[in-house]
Amino acid sequence: MATEESTKAMEDVKIGDAAKEQDDIVDPWNVQSSSETGVDYDKLIKRFGSSKIDDALIQRIEKATGKPVHHFLRRGIFFSHRDMYALIEMYEKKQPFYLYTGRGPSSDAMHLGHLVPFIMTKWLQDTFDVPLVIQLTDDEKYLWKDLTDEEAHRLSYENAKDIIACGFDEEKTFIFSDFDYMGGEFYKTICRIQRRVTNNQAWGIFGFNGESNIGKNSFPAIQAAPSFSSSFPHIFNGRTNVPCLIPCAIDQDPYFRMTRDVAPRLGYPKPALIHSKFFPALQGPKTKMSASEPNSSIFLTDTAKSIKNKVNKYAFSGGRDTTEEHRKYGGNCDVDVSFQYLRFFLEDDEKLEKIRQDYTSGELLTGFLKKELIEILQKITSEHQERRAKVTEEVVKRFMTPRKLKFDF
Ligand code: TRP
Repeated sequence: MATEESTKAMEDVKIGDAAKEQDDIVDPWNVQSSSETGVDYDKLIKRFGSSKIDDALIQRIEKATGKPVHHFLRRGIFFSHRDMYALIEMYEKKQPFYLYTGRGPSSDAMHLGHLVPFIMTKWLQDTFDVPLVIQLTDDEKYLWKDLTDEEAHRLSYENAKDIIACGFDEEKTFIFSDFDYMGGEFYKTICRIQRRVTNNQAWGIFGFNGESNIGKNSFPAIQAAPSFSSSFPHIFNGRTNVPCLIPCAIDQDPYFRMTRDVAPRLGYPKPALIHSKFFPALQGPKTKMSASEPNSSIFLTDTAKSIKNKVNKYAFSGGRDTTEEHRKYGGNCDVDVSFQYLRFFLEDDEKLEKIRQDYTSGELLTGFLKKELIEILQKITSEHQERRAKVTEEVVKRFMTPRKLKFDF
């Protein structure tokens, strides 16, 4: 039964509040900021009630793993968390966790922004040596978008190839399509969640209304369920209390606020989370890269030539109008899209810092940043394309078959 208190907590942050308060809009369906520099993430942490990933936490993670953290953590690209300290403490006491992330397969073409959570997840899997489940929500995309169930299901398998090409360990990774995996303990877990969330709560959190199809109402429980190890008896030997860590973009947090709210009432541990910032559109940090806006995106299938063209033509510049002015006043890294992308993909800290200083002082022009970026992106996409070409139907099938993973719980 929902207690008074938990109901309140669940509805603390409502879709639509942001618009009322003229804040940035950040929910699973929309991301829009009115500021030149994009979403105010510190404000978002306050609004959502999560915690900042600060130096203390980073040092704590490094101490527990004995390795330097990934530059996504170091550079604040993953900037917010829930319950990471508790998770690390348990890990040190030899109580391992599992990783859960997902993707809504709405298009064949995945873009650079889609890689971000998977790159982080791969690093976490390698560093903590733990199992991973990846949910492909073909059901969600069927309920929300204008595509057939067959098409959504097919896209799950296409996207699985791109995900596998990120390098996940086959022995420790289970990828599943909701359409295929529905049933058994997964479905029981879903129903346990559904019984504990009212329409009022779902409408409050997700902005559904009387016009929404009833599938939407039930979907949040489907995204919540993989946070509980009861959904995967073949992996966890029937254990229902294995802790879970979810790397995701911050817009997915509403699902997991709901999940964390129901967890204690089911006797399950609340999942821990780390949240990423958005990957900016080529046109600038006000919106995120979106597959439905081809000119806003660099796709993983783009050729070297089209990457060069897109970056040169569309990447928003933080430089001045004339070279003379630029040399005098310097460029603005906070809005320069090339610099922002280099923060995601240029691993060398020293080189990045030198570029930042020299662009800010006016010594470097936007053209230089674009050139650096083009080379890096061409390398990333061509390597990705090579790895993806090796992912056969056979490999996909193995990753997507429910089975025991190489890990003892
Ligand atoms: N709803 C997500 C999307 O549309 C997909 C998803 C399902 C997901 N489970 C997840 C994302 C867990 C992050 C973590 O992309």
